[in-house]
Amino acid sequence: MRRRAVDDSMAVCLLARTTPADVLNLTGPTATGLLTRLAAGPLSLSDIDTLPDNQLPEAYFSLQTLWGRRAIELRDRMHDPLLALTATVTGQALDLAAVTSGGRWKLSRFAYVHRDDGALQVESPRAFSLVRLLSPGAMSLLACFDQPVDSAAARERFKESSEAHWKNALHLLRAAAVIVECNEEGDSNEDLQPDLLQWSFHDLLFHHRSRQGRHELPLGADFRFRGKLAHEPVVKTNPWRARAIVLDKPDPASVAMRDPNFTQVLETRRSIRAHNALYPITRQQLGEFLFRSGRVRYRFHTELGEFSSRPYPSGGASYELELYLTINQCQGLERGFYYYDAQEHTLCLVEHANADTEELLNEAWVSAAKLCRPQVLITIASRFHRVNWKYSGMAYAAQLKNTGVLYQTLYLVATAMNLAGCGLGLGNTERFCRLAKTNYYEEGSVGEFMLGNPA
Ligand SMILES: Cc1cc2nc3c(=O)[nH]c(=O)nc-3n(C[C@H](O)[C@H](O)[C@H](O)COP(=O)(O)O)c2cc1C
Repeated sequence: MRRRAVDDSMAVCLLARTTPADVLNLTGPTATGLLTRLAAGPLSLSDIDTLPDNQLPEAYFSLQTLWGRRAIELRDRMHDPLLALTATVTGQALDLAAVTSGGRWKLSRFAYVHRDDGALQVESPRAFSLVRLLSPGAMSLLACFDQPVDSAAARERFKESSEAHWKNALHLLRAAAVIVECNEEGDSNEDLQPDLLQWSFHDLLFHHRSRQGRHELPLGADFRFRGKLAHEPVVKTNPWRARAIVLDKPDPASVAMRDPNFTQVLETRRSIRAHNALYPITRQQLGEFLFRSGRVRYRFHTELGEFSSRPYPSGGASYELELYLTINQCQGLERGFYYYDAQEHTLCLVEHANADTEELLNEAWVSAAKLCRPQVLITIASRFHRVNWKYSGMAYAAQLKNTGVLYQTLYLVATAMNLAGCGLGLGNTERFCRLAKTNYYEEGSVGEFMLGNPA
């Protein structure tokens, strides 16, 4: 269908990343001519529309193909463009359908502006494309939609644009889900549809970015900092070694004799939120528990560096997780905040009981519906860069998965030992960092587990 030639028509622009493979099957005379013109610079759609009728299908097929291969971007106008729409996933259809210039719009609560490769872009985890902001005026355009606004009223605030240009800008922002249409009350589908309503901005962005499907950014083990930054060592350098308390190591044969069988452990495992204040957990039990769930079994070298083996699995054998114990009530151990040295199987006093350790215990009590102020609170911390160094896009997701794996191991060992264990969903990282004296960006808490003798 012939598009009407207008001033301020949208323009297409060949992207620098385009490779010969992207244009491989575009060999017809119209396609070749189009590619030659695109190679020389942006081309307006109204220019393309001046082609003879019999060449238009091939021209638009070529544009569709180039868009599907992420080889072109779409601009709101030929000269002084504000915006450029680019696909984030290959194989998408280019939507050039006319947009009404009416309607009521607002910025999506999932949209965010950030700097990428030296340029600003606005994007949303809901879309298969994003918008690059090509000039400072683009920010003023976005600001028009900070509140639900009728298109005509927003245009009033953006007077310098022609009707055609306004339509194009709306089209690009809508295509990238940067703006969403809303009703008279100002609600969009993001406020009304249960599938969208229940997502918070940061959760959806994390989900989007750490999984494949809606972007083609680096994802997975690409060793992005190899040769640039030192890799976190296989075990933490223990600054509290001088205050180490040697823990008991259980005898594997007697453990095997007294343990319930695996099915019993699985079937009887429960979250237990009541601890026996008269018979608190003992230092010996704690030693066995930590040995069976968290110790370093052995270390080994590969061409990728040094690794360890532990009782629980860990993505990439990274073993970035560290255990810190807040001892509230334990026979044979002073109250305080301890580091578990998984290599040496020792507990090292980091801080005597203080206001922060009391608050950690209080916060656990609140998390556990005020049913239990634990005898022992195990805080799981991650040495983030042990994983961040190696993985793109999914590094933090991997650490949370590893944390879940460790939770289950703690649960199963607690059950086998007839101890009361309960995972917690919340913890205060700032408080943890203050106690453990870690840099928030290097090592922070990612999980909590309560342990004690069952009431
Ligand atoms: C990741 C995770 C977080 C949890 N967070 C909490 C919590 O904050 N407070 C709590 O009382 N229980 C928490 N639990 C325990 C669950 O409530 C419990 O596993 C669930 O109710 C099933 O009961 P069960 O473990 O006894 O089979 C958590 C469990 C997991 C695995």
